[in-house]
Amino acid sequence: MKSNMHLITTAIIILTSIFTLKCQNQNNMEKSEFKKITYKEFDEEAIKLIGHDWMLVTAGKQNDFNMMTAAWGGLGWLWNRPVAYIFVRPQRHTFTFTEREDYFTLTFFEESYRSILMEMGTVSGRDFDKINYEHLTPFVTEYGSIAFSEARIVLECKKLFATTLNPDDFTDISIDKEIYPAKDYHIMYIGEIKNILIK
Ligand SMILES: Cc1cc2nc3c(=O)[nH]c(=O)nc-3n(C[C@H](O)[C@H](O)[C@H](O)COP(=O)(O)O)c2cc1C
Repeated sequence: MKSNMHLITTAIIILTSIFTLKCQNQNNMEKSEFKKITYKEFDEEAIKLIGHDWMLVTAGKQNDFNMMTAAWGGLGWLWNRPVAYIFVRPQRHTFTFTEREDYFTLTFFEESYRSILMEMGTVSGRDFDKINYEHLTPFVTEYGSIAFSEARIVLECKKLFATTLNPDDFTDISIDKEIYPAKDYHIMYIGEIKNILIK
């Protein structure tokens, strides 16, 4: 009886160790596929990258995050820092996370991921389990945000500034009429690019 218990305890310890090691390896493997570069080495056309290729905006922590597809935004230089700016409508589930978190990530994918980006841009995390989405493998970034191992580029950003677009500030009011008939003005976030990971 005693030796049986001993055997069972040993088996549980071995199995737990194997599982932990497997998880650690997977996490390391996902991260090690990426190379960290500086903004000076980042050689992409921002307009095409965001406007044509699209991106996922993700905010949150492990097991408590949300992502959505975005095609509006930019990359540039502001306040002596490399920055990314994104626009999130207030009704998006992602908005809860971009508001709550200090960091967000932007992830860019190969063309073969277009349908996945389309799906993440048409369903909401309120109705769909985006956390366990079968086509994307989340990993935790250096600053504790979430990115995806399938991405070809990851930008990890620290929120610096957030503001809701004010309709009074349009110098061309046709944009207001065209884009905001529901008056659901975007929240613009400006984030400092803290990490650039590429494959
Ligand atoms: C190509 C494409 C680009 C999009 N760009 C944006 C964007 O820049 N900002 C935004 O608020 N929504 C954008 N959306 C809409 C959101 O991705 C979409 O409403 C999504 O379902 C929101 O998911 P969520 O509720 O889980 O946050 C875009 C959708 C697509 C398909």
